[in-house]
Amino acid sequence: MQGLFISFEGIDGAGKSTHIDALAQTFRAQGRVVTVTREPGGTPLAEKLRAMVLNDPMDAMTEALLVFAARRDHLRLVIEPALAQGQVVLCDRFTDATFAYQGGGRGFDLGLLSVLEKMVQTTPGKKLGIMRQPDVTVWFDLPAEIAAQRLSGTRVPDKFEAQPQAFFQRVSNGYLQRMLESPARFARIDAAQTREAVWGDVLSALQHRGWLA
Ligand code: TYD
Repeated sequence: MQGLFISFEGIDGAGKSTHIDALAQTFRAQGRVVTVTREPGGTPLAEKLRAMVLNDPMDAMTEALLVFAARRDHLRLVIEPALAQGQVVLCDRFTDATFAYQGGGRGFDLGLLSVLEKMVQTTPGKKLGIMRQPDVTVWFDLPAEIAAQRLSGTRVPDKFEAQPQAFFQRVSNGYLQRMLESPARFARIDAAQTREAVWGDVLSALQHRGWLA
């Protein structure tokens, strides 16, 4: 079987997690081997970098360099090997999050992010310029004010969750720009619906693309 790489995106509070777990069950029920992972993170080194990025104050460039360093390790040790074995890789956030959070949210230069993306996502052994990207990106699109209501009082916020609503509006806009650049890759889901309706849309998006029976 061919490997399948699916990333999940959205602002904090958009509700990705339960759907990622449910999708893992669905793929396994269809006989697929599934790796569920996340960014920043997914390897011991990348999880250390995650703790720094989520908790320590730093400028946007440092943040971008650390999330891409984590991504390089994650691709090399987890994502590429799993795809080579024909697994389904379900990744909670990937590079679109960097364009949305560091680019949109923090205002970091998108051209420089594109350079880092090319460097880091080039498949080892392949020519520079052939970039690894998700086969599908499921974007849980939710207005920033609804996300803020959902997040309020749930837990101690990390550095990003503590940002004001305007930050998440910029993050959302960052996701929208990424979708407009790669419309075929994106499945945009209206995450303001009930959980059941969102789940139905996630399933049908993957079925339409022929990734799920
Ligand atoms: P998140 O995926 O929401 O995990 P949890 O549900 O455990 O909080 O947290 C990851 C945070 O990291 C999120 O606020 C977005 C941020 N992030 C970036 O700023 N840049 C990136 O490239 C990635 C992958 C995540």
